[in-house]
Amino acid sequence: MDRMEKLVSLCKRRGYIFPSSEIYGGLNGCWDYGPLGVELKRNIKAAWWQDMISHHDETAAPPGAPGSYTMVGLDCSILMNPAVWQASGHVGGFSDPMVDCRETRSRYRADQLVVYRLAAAPGTPLADGELLFAAPGEAGKTPQADLLEPHRKRAESLRKKQGSVHVEIVPDALQDAALRARTIAPGAKEPGSLTAPRAFNLMFKTHVGALEGNSSVAYLRPETAQGIFVNFKNVCDTARVRIPFGIGQIGKAFRNEINPRNYTFRSREFEQMEIEFFCRADDADAWYRYWRDRRYQWYVELGLGTAKLHLREHDRSELAHYASACADVEYEFPFGPSELEGIANRTDFDLRQHMDASGRDLQFFDDQEPDKDRRRYLPYVIEPSAGADRAALAFLCEAYCEDEVGGETRTVLKLHPRLAPVKVAVFPLVKKDGMPERALEIYRRLRSRFNAAYDEKGAIGRRYRRQDEAGTPYCVTIDGQTAEDGTVTLRERDSCAQQRLPGTSVAAFLSEHIGAA
Ligand code: GAP
Repeated sequence: MDRMEKLVSLCKRRGYIFPSSEIYGGLNGCWDYGPLGVELKRNIKAAWWQDMISHHDETAAPPGAPGSYTMVGLDCSILMNPAVWQASGHVGGFSDPMVDCRETRSRYRADQLVVYRLAAAPGTPLADGELLFAAPGEAGKTPQADLLEPHRKRAESLRKKQGSVHVEIVPDALQDAALRARTIAPGAKEPGSLTAPRAFNLMFKTHVGALEGNSSVAYLRPETAQGIFVNFKNVCDTARVRIPFGIGQIGKAFRNEINPRNYTFRSREFEQMEIEFFCRADDADAWYRYWRDRRYQWYVELGLGTAKLHLREHDRSELAHYASACADVEYEFPFGPSELEGIANRTDFDLRQHMDASGRDLQFFDDQEPDKDRRRYLPYVIEPSAGADRAALAFLCEAYCEDEVGGETRTVLKLHPRLAPVKVAVFPLVKKDGMPERALEIYRRLRSRFNAAYDEKGAIGRRYRRQDEAGTPYCVTIDGQTAEDGTVTLRERDSCAQQRLPGTSVAAFLSEHIGAA
């Protein structure tokens, strides 16, 4: 089993993540969070909400910020007037290019298929009747050995015939009918089974009300951001905010992804944690840099190592037409480096679109601005847009660890204590001599303040292993000495180090070591 398979197996076995509606065979791209998973995800969302919004101090500029600012929250409906999605450009443009294989009946995102040839030498012209091969992957990213794998035998026999074999990517082959006609799709026997790429809108459609017709069409939101933009005026009118300020929202988003993959990484239903930060155009570059660095640092503070966490600035050609800058926070997942969060300077594009389409004036009026000409304006928007499920997956990948304790391999989830689903487990060493009673008393005291577990079944070593696998940072054991002097053993998950402390001090110890959430 590779690392990812081991993690998936642990998540299923320990109740972190289950396939959705599993007893009916599941639903591709949908996942359920089990008893431990739901706590992890709630802790991630709570940490985000506290660190970005509710605990933010608006009276002073945080380190690295161009100034002080206010943060407020919103919780918008998932269904909105479809005019929102017309104005935002999602009805016309939120699509991925898709190709179908008529032979295997599989569907692919065109940009996730690589077409290549087996040439005798680089740059040799295509021979009459020469076959091309399509493989799942991304040009420049997927190793050649992986692309070649399904056609290894053919490559071997060509090597014998020609003396050498060179894997050469054929760019834009799927757009060209003649090249498609000689391309063998993944798992197909005959060439020519792939269709031309077609635009596939990713929004899920539904109907509002009892009658189905064009006028009843509604969409499940594909991002939480638009709910913030269409409420911009409501917030300005009611929350007494002044620019610069940010509005945050956590909520479900839905995308009919062509190829959900890599476990929960690309799902059809997922949760976003988005901020739309409104500032003056002149200040937008400085705020963009602030949010990019601040969001990167947030993941580091919660345990992602900088060796696997990268900030990738987009170059001009990658930017959406409305964005003037964008960076991805990328994490090196076991399946390759992939986007955790995007931070973009969206200019005034969204507010302008909604102002034009709705006919409502969405400009901000700054009554304290001394220069009259600068009082009324459309602010620029910096958008840090994160996924709660991707964050959960990255934290799980980073935390998964196998080490050796007492000559045995143990599996441990080294989650940051703030994110760990269960903060402390309480055990009586044995089920006699009053130990369970004393342990239950401590457990009940802790339970009112922390997510705690109580376990009296099995050998103490096995109970520790169970909590290590669940990611519980601390275990407290009540033994014979507890009856004499009231002390207990506190064991730390990562180092397995143990210390004795008074049972009455455990809550204070946990408060100090677990952090805010
Ligand atoms: N409002 C901007 C926006 O939605 P995005 O890059 O499409 O931008 C932002 O999405 C974040 O949402 C991503 O960085 C990712 O964390 C999460 N996300 C997007 N699509 C996802 C999917 N299919 N499954 C899980 N998370 C997804």
